[in-house]
Amino acid sequence: MRLDKCMTKRNLDEDALNRLAEAVRPRLTEKRYAHTRAVEKEAARLGEIYLPERVAALRASALLHDITKKEPLEKQLQLCREFGIMTEEADLLSPSVFHARTAAAVAERDFPDYVDDEILGGIRWHTTGRAGMTVFESLVYLADYIEETRTFDDCVRLRRDFYARLGDGSDPGAALTDTMIESFDLTLEGLMRDGAPIAADSVAARNWFIVRRHDEETKREHKGAECP
Ligand SMILES: [Fe+2]
Ligand SMILES: [Fe+2]
Repeated sequence: MRLDKCMTKRNLDEDALNRLAEAVRPRLTEKRYAHTRAVEKEAARLGEIYLPERVAALRASALLHDITKKEPLEKQLQLCREFGIMTEEADLLSPSVFHARTAAAVAERDFPDYVDDEILGGIRWHTTGRAGMTVFESLVYLADYIEETRTFDDCVRLRRDFYARLGDGSDPGAALTDTMIESFDLTLEGLMRDGAPIAADSVAARNWFIVRRHDEETKREHKGAECP
């Protein structure tokens, strides 16, 4: 990964996004490509609500988020060595954590004209999340979780409840924070049930959102006390 952190923000137009979609297609299975396009669509929908000026960038991040997903573990480890990505022993028991790291590195190497720091961040953190994740990263993460081709009960329910809350006129920020916490709860519960290791970044992400929710609630209470 690059060490400088001041990449110019990309303003991709529809043609560029179409070219990117075609370029990633051969790297994905047919099923994964359909999922990728659905994540792109969901990220755009979320972007219209939360980051309207970054919708195209969210779509690019979604298009690139799984580009190394079909690589076998051996290739993932080879890419980690190649890009100097640190790995831990526990990672080997949950190999799906590798693809987010390798996809960000490969996206930067192979699609330099389509990425910026935010786009790479969305790719890098789409599986585990992290403490202090940005709204951009949260939207890519959530789009991956609730996109419309997901049929798993938890995904369907999370999607339905999230949009129902927005439809009820709930505060969008609070709805996003609560939904992120619930998604981490569901992921962590599933991993515990399976006896699988839990990525430290996911635990840190959940804790960070819980602290944030508490701070937001406290702020709202104070505001309510000031303005009866
Ligand atoms: Fe993924
Ligand atoms: Fe995905």
